[in-house]
Amino acid sequence: MKSFNDLADFDFEEIGSLLELATRLDQKPEPDALRGKVLSLLFLSPSLRTLASFQAAMLRLGGGSFVISPEMSIHGLETRPGIVMDGAAAEHIREAVPVIASYGDAIGIRAFAERKNLADDLAEKEFHALTSLVDKPWVNMESAVNHPCQSLADWKTMDDLGVPAQGGRFVLSWAYHPKALPLAVPAATVHMAAMRGMDVTVLRPEGFALPEPIMAKAHAAALRSGGTLRETEDRAEAMEGAHVIYAKSWSATSCYGDRMADQDQRAKYHDWCVDEPWFANARPDCRFMHCLPVRRGVVVADRILDGPRSVVIHEARNRMLAQMAVLHRMMGASQ
Ligand code: CP
Repeated sequence: MKSFNDLADFDFEEIGSLLELATRLDQKPEPDALRGKVLSLLFLSPSLRTLASFQAAMLRLGGGSFVISPEMSIHGLETRPGIVMDGAAAEHIREAVPVIASYGDAIGIRAFAERKNLADDLAEKEFHALTSLVDKPWVNMESAVNHPCQSLADWKTMDDLGVPAQGGRFVLSWAYHPKALPLAVPAATVHMAAMRGMDVTVLRPEGFALPEPIMAKAHAAALRSGGTLRETEDRAEAMEGAHVIYAKSWSATSCYGDRMADQDQRAKYHDWCVDEPWFANARPDCRFMHCLPVRRGVVVADRILDGPRSVVIHEARNRMLAQMAVLHRMMGASQ
């Protein structure tokens, strides 16, 4: 495997094989599978789970990793192309990325969306600029509109819990958050659930419709898998018979890149905090999913997060297992 960038780069059987490997590595550890291998980890955006789970994954497979991020004691990193570097930053990403990559056998890169220009973010302009500097296998650890490791882990979580694929009702719901957040998780999630063959509903208020290319990609996945995809503002309609609600906030797409307009837009929807009444007409065992981190009492009520519906810790642990499978295929005997 030369890169792990998008679940759409794989077919259904290949994803199934990765998930089987993730489960096998959990049940039958292979502590020498990546002995002597090094994973370089470049974080241009913050993280808890991705940072820790990639390092844990490498350790459990017998390899090692190192982390570079702008907050560390490194020379300031310049990312703008064509800039005269007479300011604070003493190192350009054009040298930093290939240097970091050269120390490892594979590299993981995280770079959130700039959220200035929707077309640039949808085209993954910044992320492609970074990966074009790498001549090693690489993993997308979250880019402008993708988070494939999260989606692989979420797929595994639903498999683990027996959430049906065909006929399974999956609601991706926007939730209130004080900040405008990236589209990476909602974009990856809607595609993942559609690819899994589920009946997917995107529940979101006016102004927060997912961009057409994201929906079109998910539609295409649903067509191939036998799933369905729709969107609505009607919570009761969306939650009817739901097996899963996956909550996530994202930027107002009607005014993408305009922070003040986004604030005005989202301020109307403080009450989009997932709580028990949301589940009134869902299945009794409807699960609550979230990629974390999550703001308690803002995105979701404590009683949901602390109650039996919540599977967020299961999802987070599956990050490590899913990534072990990816790294095994990328650098180990199963590549
Ligand atoms: N879900 C996720 O990617 O978490 P982090 O941002 O903490 O890595």
